[in-house]
Amino acid sequence: MQSENGFYGQYGGSYIPEILYSSQQQILNAFEEAKNDPEFLAELNKQWQQFSGRPTPLTFCANLTEHFGGAQIYLKREDLNHSGAHKMNNVIGQGLLVKRMGKKRVIAETGAGQHGIATALVAARLGLECTIYMGAKDIERQYPNVFWMKQLGATVVPVTTGAQTLRDALDEALRDWSSSHEDSHYLIGTSCGCAPFPEMVAFFQSVIGNEVREQSVAQFGQFPDRLYACVGGGSNACGLFLPFLDDKEVEMVGVEAGGKGLELGEHSIRLSHNLGQPGIAQGFATMFLQDKAGQLQETHSIAAGLDYVGVSPIIAHLAEIGRIQMTYAMDDDVIAACTLLLKKEGIIPALESSHALAGAFKDAPNLPKDSKIVINLSGRGDKDIFNVAKAVQDETFPQFLTDYLAAYPTSHADHKEQNA
Ligand SMILES: Cc1ncc(COP(=O)(O)O)c(C=O)c1O
Repeated sequence: MQSENGFYGQYGGSYIPEILYSSQQQILNAFEEAKNDPEFLAELNKQWQQFSGRPTPLTFCANLTEHFGGAQIYLKREDLNHSGAHKMNNVIGQGLLVKRMGKKRVIAETGAGQHGIATALVAARLGLECTIYMGAKDIERQYPNVFWMKQLGATVVPVTTGAQTLRDALDEALRDWSSSHEDSHYLIGTSCGCAPFPEMVAFFQSVIGNEVREQSVAQFGQFPDRLYACVGGGSNACGLFLPFLDDKEVEMVGVEAGGKGLELGEHSIRLSHNLGQPGIAQGFATMFLQDKAGQLQETHSIAAGLDYVGVSPIIAHLAEIGRIQMTYAMDDDVIAACTLLLKKEGIIPALESSHALAGAFKDAPNLPKDSKIVINLSGRGDKDIFNVAKAVQDETFPQFLTDYLAAYPTSHADHKEQNA
């Protein structure tokens, strides 16, 4: 979706320190040129296919459809991307742009770790240095991803300020960029931040919706009636929704994190229920969770990737003009939706994506039997094994961890002995 000078209605724009102006202009120009350059687009397509495994399938869920007895349920399988999430689509795009701009280093911030790991993978492949900022609380929640980032050669910097989550990591990444912009690119992982990031990330993610357009017509002869996506920063939602924007008959539903309740600090609901307020922070204008003095508030979600205080200006605008409907799913409903997909379809969803599932499952029984819905399965759930085990109170998992730790070599000498 094209902005007007970086704005989507009253949201978006570019509120950055003077020192970043020339770098921002460089990105703007590079992106404008690249998106119209057939050679760049051919290389992007090649990397999407050969490195990430696109196109991802559109999977019909016969068992779930029968279970709910309403709409026919399809999943767009972004979980099948290399590294297990849609984040890869954007990182490959920006990675190629970094090479085009002749920069040597990428900086990123990450919540669930999916963007961090995608950035570390692409940096390794393209020969770029890589620094990842991650809230200390998110590091605890998503350690397996942190482990792989380090093995891939990235420097992972724990952020211990504020709530120690994504918003704090974002502030630190911005600080780094301010002092390193001459040779570093800030590789933003969602459709937020100063212009042109929202538009650029949405452009790279639109491959999701573009594929759904072709696949839905090929598989069931029409566009879907409704689309569902979870909304953290908003990149997978932009990716699925934007290619259908002019098809007025296609309804779109964004699902935010309802967390544990509607009190401030218990959720990450910015758009539904009128809980967010317009504001300017982190380089752009959008709906933020803030108090009356404009202070950004703490957020919560069982899914680290949805635990963010702001939202894409594109999504904020589309929600405001009524083109997309916004709703939310509570942590408990998210776990129930995750478990249902596991049991009925043999697919392990990320907790972020399980929000989209929960939103769709609420509606599915009440929709006509011949209607088709597509839920974006933005990522796979391997990274969430610890959180899901805790939430479903699996009794064998703590024992496994205890036994594993007891046998874990704690020193170099122990390690040598074990491998002897
Ligand atoms: C699997 C998955 N889905 C969704 C999200 C939310 O991000 P966005 O709203 O930008 O798609 C994340 C973020 O980390 C994620 O890892």
